[in-house]
Amino acid sequence: MVLGLEKQTAVITGASSGIGRAIAKGLARQGVSLCLMGRNIAGLEKAGSKEDSTSAMRMYKVDLSFEAGIRQVAEDITKDVGHVDILIHCAGDYSMGLISSTPVEELDRQYKINVRAPYILTQTLLPIIRPQGGQIVYQFKCRSQGKGKSFPVRSQQTCAESDC
Ligand SMILES: NC(=O)c1ccc[n+]([C@@H]2O[C@H](COP(=O)([O-])OP(=O)(O)OC[C@H]3O[C@@H](n4cnc5c(N)ncnc54)[C@H](OP(=O)(O)O)[C@@H]3O)[C@@H](O)[C@H]2O)c1
Repeated sequence: MVLGLEKQTAVITGASSGIGRAIAKGLARQGVSLCLMGRNIAGLEKAGSKEDSTSAMRMYKVDLSFEAGIRQVAEDITKDVGHVDILIHCAGDYSMGLISSTPVEELDRQYKINVRAPYILTQTLLPIIRPQGGQIVYQFKCRSQGKGKSFPVRSQQTCAESDC
């Protein structure tokens, strides 16, 4: 299916594997120029392989735990492409464990990657997203658990968001 996205530019975090990589491959086939972010460059290369597209692909190695790194990559993208039509946050990390025994530092680590990083990246890229009415997608998770049910092992972030 042709979506009419040719000549658009997309920034995708977490593009080195999983959902982010699959989205990158799909957009490359639609002729979208890609700015792919992750720590694993070999994974990013697979996401934007030339067999999928002839559109431009740029890779940005960044650890989203570090604010300075996020700001630097946003600056680099601004210089390199000048406008962003689609920003997709796919990077994410979690670990499973009991809230009773997991150090709060683990929650802090997940919060940095899953919440703080998308906030900072969106904020820093907005000046080059807004003018052409770009789209922002935040791919994360939804909870299907009903109130009152007990899951002893869950991600710390989910525990903190809910009543367990
Ligand atoms: N798979 C599912 O069924 C599912 C369902 C609902 C929600 N989710 C959520 O969707 C998100 C993506 O899922 P996925 O299955 O695609 O996971 P995945 O295959 O583990 O991919 C996670 C991505 O996040 C990046 N990442 C993690 N920590 C990072 C950091 N500190 N700095 C920069 N990049 C980082 C990784 O890149 P590098 O390793 O290259 O840094 C990787 O590309 C996660 O938040 C997950 O919880 C997944």
